[in-house]
Amino acid sequence: MSKRWVAALAVGVMATVAAVAPAAAQMFPTRPVTVVVPFAAGGPTDVMARILGQRMSRTLGQSVVVENVTGAGGTIGVTRVSRSPADGYTLLVGHLGTQVANMALYRTVTYDADRDFEPIGTIGTNPQILVVRRTLEATTYADFITWLRANRERASFGSAGVGSMAHVAAILFFSQVTGTGGQHIPYRGTGPAMNDLVAGQFDFMFDQSVNAVPQIQAGTIKPLAITTARRFAVVPDVPTFAEVGLPVFELGVWNSLFAPRNTPQPVLERLHAAYLEAMADEAVSKRLADLGADVPTPDQRTREALRQRVRADMERWIPIIRAAGATVE
Ligand code: MLT
Repeated sequence: MSKRWVAALAVGVMATVAAVAPAAAQMFPTRPVTVVVPFAAGGPTDVMARILGQRMSRTLGQSVVVENVTGAGGTIGVTRVSRSPADGYTLLVGHLGTQVANMALYRTVTYDADRDFEPIGTIGTNPQILVVRRTLEATTYADFITWLRANRERASFGSAGVGSMAHVAAILFFSQVTGTGGQHIPYRGTGPAMNDLVAGQFDFMFDQSVNAVPQIQAGTIKPLAITTARRFAVVPDVPTFAEVGLPVFELGVWNSLFAPRNTPQPVLERLHAAYLEAMADEAVSKRLADLGADVPTPDQRTREALRQRVRADMERWIPIIRAAGATVE
């Protein structure tokens, strides 16, 4: 075949591909969408992802399948998505810990939360609650601090893994409250960790409200303080850390939906529209709020709002976490 023919054929193929790509994006999705949750099923990240995914599937006309890819504080699942094809069929629900804290904690993390992901939208922001096993003799924050200082060698706390927000909150707490500490017991999510706290297998944990509130309301664990500026409506009897003498301990863990970098704009717009429709559904926002999540207001649901939140938290938290002296090889 002459060179002229080969060149003409190549141009024709490229023109066809160029024409098909936007069409494929316009038809998105034509098969199920996977949402990777980097922690075990039953934890706050998983619960929120499933609530959102179930409602988004109605708008997208395809099932939204949650896949739990756990380990290393969530970095295994996040890394998996950062390397997935940018076609909209593999998404991530990440949070302040996986996207930001782990960039400060793990020298081995290869992703950059701002560079490698396209924001879709925030599902909810959860304060963290310091909870203890029901059989612990301490019933107030002050009693707990006294007990912890006297028992720090044998006290134990659970988390969703090294670098999870349950772990990061504990690191920050120990760095601010002298004489405290404990033996870290990492799980693959605070879902399974909570089962063991309820069973009295370890002493305390900092957990996101979505996971802790149902157990507090059931009386299976004891809450001591919450990382909000004001008392939290779903658990009004739980004092804030400021009330118990730790004014700077405010933490809100956003859980948000992301796509890999370079996902085509029409696909991002389709996903964002389905996200907005889900968040506008009262059944969804009420369920999230009842579980203890702070549901984003409409102006906080834009893609740009999430992009700016990630950037602001990278700027704020990476130096703080590094200063707390925590790193993971
Ligand atoms: C965390 O501590 O990072 C989360 O609660 C993890 C999870 O959702 O299990």
